[in-house]
Amino acid sequence: MLRLRCLLTTTTTSSFHQFPTLSSSSYSARSSSSSKVKTMSYSTESSSNNNKKKNKLLFRQLFEKESSTYTYLLADHFHPDKPALLVDPVDRTVDRDLSLIKDLGLKLVYAINTHVHADHVTGSGLIKTKVPGVKSIISKASKASADILVEAGDKIQFGDLYLEVRATPGHTVGCVTYVTGDGPDQPQPRMAFTGDALLIRGCGRTDFQGGSSQQLYESVHSQIFTLPMDTFIYPAHDYKGFTVSTVGEEMLYNPRLTKDQETFKSIMENLKLSYPKMIDVAVPANMVCGLQDVESKAA
Ligand SMILES: [Fe+2]
Repeated sequence: MLRLRCLLTTTTTSSFHQFPTLSSSSYSARSSSSSKVKTMSYSTESSSNNNKKKNKLLFRQLFEKESSTYTYLLADHFHPDKPALLVDPVDRTVDRDLSLIKDLGLKLVYAINTHVHADHVTGSGLIKTKVPGVKSIISKASKASADILVEAGDKIQFGDLYLEVRATPGHTVGCVTYVTGDGPDQPQPRMAFTGDALLIRGCGRTDFQGGSSQQLYESVHSQIFTLPMDTFIYPAHDYKGFTVSTVGEEMLYNPRLTKDQETFKSIMENLKLSYPKMIDVAVPANMVCGLQDVESKAA
């Protein structure tokens, strides 16, 4: 992970996309612990006869200051069940996140990780102990355990909205980017939750966890920079106070990924970053949804 330790004054940031709604009467979360997951479905049945198909995403960007991690709350808040998901929850801020979800009257259904984090313990497992029925999600390629293991092309559906899974390895071998759906009934512009694959004006380090600078370069260029230019980039971290970027902006101004591949690899190989201070605790814990006895492992 990129270790730019700058003064950080932000505590919590939020954005809010609030739109008309759909009506629906049923949903079914189809989940599996097996390797192949095609669609996690919180489906609706009556969306086609409702004109209010746009702008139904509730979106909040939340911040955990110790690890400079962003957690994202997304929900179809006009769906009768108000299904919601969290991307990259942190153990320290689980209570805050669940309190917000309660205040907003949402039903949390998924706790999703972009990858096995090395700098904080995921809140996924803790959330599962506090909210029965929540399913944890991570990529199959991460080799971590979770209720649902996703692969490129899978869709994570909540209400009438969905996230598309794109494989973006390179920071870790199992990194994925979650992108909001493509279509007139999905949020516009699209939104990409890039984890540490692409940060605002940066990217995650590639020297641990099966990282590869060549692979990261190819991932970003083939899976993220091919999205529409106005696609919002929401990373897992920021150390300078940035909150959001766009594909077009990063294609112009990212100081690493605008370079050719050989230059990028040279940059990544010469970062001279310190050993990640949390990695020996966080990675083993995050391989099991953050529920490992981290104290004994840290000893
Ligand atoms: Fe990371």
